[in-house]
Amino acid sequence: MALLIAPSLLSADFGNLQRDIEFINNSPADWFHVDVMDGVFVPNISFGFPVMKAIQQHATKPLDVHLMIVNPDQYIDEFAKYGVYMLTVHYEVCTHLHRTIQRIKAAGMKAGVVLNPHTPVHVLNDLIHELDMVLLMSVNPGFGGQKFIPHTLNKVRDLRALIDSKKLTTLIEVDGGVDTTNARALEAAGAHVVVAGNAVFGAADRIQAIQQIKG
Ligand code: DX5
Ligand code: ZN
Repeated sequence: MALLIAPSLLSADFGNLQRDIEFINNSPADWFHVDVMDGVFVPNISFGFPVMKAIQQHATKPLDVHLMIVNPDQYIDEFAKYGVYMLTVHYEVCTHLHRTIQRIKAAGMKAGVVLNPHTPVHVLNDLIHELDMVLLMSVNPGFGGQKFIPHTLNKVRDLRALIDSKKLTTLIEVDGGVDTTNARALEAAGAHVVVAGNAVFGAADRIQAIQQIKG
């Protein structure tokens, strides 16, 4: 199976958001990756619910929403109203992560956990069977256009081994600095989905970039 690609709207032109969303609708891309940042958990602020509404109105592919916010529990039900397919929360901000995951599922969404570059995969040993997806950050979250951290490949292999050892079907997604130079290595290591912001929206030929990353 080819890699799935989720172009990150953080790298889209917000003055022409409908145009860029429709471009993804009509491309071979698989999901929309939507980065929500609060300026507290990460040193950047992206957008909130008015923009989520605009995305929902125009997007025809699944919405993969990456919450880079403290207290995500507070907003789970609100995100469910925007037709979110997959909601991911950071391990580093969830004191009662098991409860948070159950709440996301109860709200009708698929549930995933995100690990920062410094967070080891084994912290999910006792939760992995509850998860639809694990998102491994391959940059420190907060900004698009950063350089891929090569050690992520080891984490993808570790995570894949954990998932396979338990005979689970949990998806592995990788986010940050993914491009045509590392997509094949990520696929070989066991990733199912990759996020790409700059590598898609910054490409001279965006369709070709999507095709090459998917493989
Ligand atoms: C970073 C975000 C990423 C970002 C990826 O905090 O989570 O999704 O938009 O952008 P690129 O692919 O440019 O690294
Ligand atoms: Zn992201």
